[in-house]
Amino acid sequence: MKLEKQAILNALKTISVPGEGEDMVTSGAVTNVVTFGDEVIVDITIKNPSLQAKKKAEVEIMKAIHAEVHMKAQVKVNIKVDAPEKAPKNEIKGKPIPGIQNIIAVASGKGGVGKSTITANLAVSLQKMGFKVGILDADIYGPSIPIMFDVQDEKPLSVKVDGKQKMKPVESYGIKILSIGFFTKPDQAVVWRGPMASKALNQMIFDAAWGALDFLLVDLPPGTGDIHLSIVQAMPLTGAVVVSTPQKVALADAKKGVAMFQQDSINVPVLGIVENMAWFTPEELPENKYYIFGKEGASNLAEDLGVRLLAQIPLVQSIREGGDVGHPAALQKDTILAEAFETMTRNSVEELVKRNDSLPPTEAVKITTMAGCAAVKK
Ligand SMILES: Nc1ncnc2c1ncn2[C@@H]1O[C@H](COP(=O)(O)OP(=O)(O)OP(=O)(O)O)[C@@H](O)[C@H]1O
Ligand SMILES: [Mg+2]
Repeated sequence: MKLEKQAILNALKTISVPGEGEDMVTSGAVTNVVTFGDEVIVDITIKNPSLQAKKKAEVEIMKAIHAEVHMKAQVKVNIKVDAPEKAPKNEIKGKPIPGIQNIIAVASGKGGVGKSTITANLAVSLQKMGFKVGILDADIYGPSIPIMFDVQDEKPLSVKVDGKQKMKPVESYGIKILSIGFFTKPDQAVVWRGPMASKALNQMIFDAAWGALDFLLVDLPPGTGDIHLSIVQAMPLTGAVVVSTPQKVALADAKKGVAMFQQDSINVPVLGIVENMAWFTPEELPENKYYIFGKEGASNLAEDLGVRLLAQIPLVQSIREGGDVGHPAALQKDTILAEAFETMTRNSVEELVKRNDSLPPTEAVKITTMAGCAAVKK
């Protein structure tokens, strides 16, 4: 038996690359094919470093060659991973947080657009890519991260680190979590004044035993008022992700959210906009899209504002269910949803790498009074 290289390439063209809408030959993932007699060696480069993604690629290649070329071909697949090995480093001037490389805020102007859902699934996708991830749930109005990770009944323990008493984050699915919700009773809406909120959040950042983290994601409360300003200014953020639905009222608020991060006194780079609930899709009919909140609103806004559209996430029942039962949808394996969240995550990391290469580290601006907040609000 003699295998033809072109026949192998044609077989590989039947395999699509998740999230890229192209086959692995066209996308450039296949870097080399060598055949001798009944043996074939395929070299590929993939972006997802997880063991599961490597295994999946290998199995798909073997299956395609056996089905399309020859049942008895001896296939060897060499896989190279082209993902950022380590998270981009952000050396924070002023007040460093030992061990935390990047702090990313997830914000929206309007409430209920899916900030916490996006934070939870971003965290899970980053973790699946091999990063060490923490979430700080800073939503002083309605902390929902504990429910989304099924840890609502847990409390952070106190541990001694270098002779100092520190809060130990609760862990779920390998993600470290601290939430305002751990310190308040359920159903108790906590509305702090700006400085009080920043003080509590500061403790959760600086007096917690986070350990080494590539990413700390901060789920912000909805809105763009004084409280938000003071929270945002108390943290040395590396970047912000703004979530919006395609709806007009949400877009107007998302615009304010982007403007809040871009104003001179804050100057936190906006990594991009996530369009959540971009369309409704019944899971059993994924080709059917119903644009119930309007079409492409957030993509148009991203274009207008000159920021990247990081992803369009559909409105799907299992995303809501995953949130309610404490099992984020991104934990699913090889589903369209998991892929949509992976695309969102890859694009966010890409923007972050660009940001860290081109801009100096963000400094945390210390604001201690409401007057201070008003002064910087302009
Ligand atoms: N893409 C989606 N598909 C289905 N349900 C979704 C989606 N995104 C969010 N949801 C659901 O919508 C509700 C609101 O989402 P979420 O709590 O994430 O919004 P939020 O912006 O954090 O809200 P808040 O402003 O109250 O903090 C939740 O029940 C969540 O499960
Ligand atoms: Mg929320």
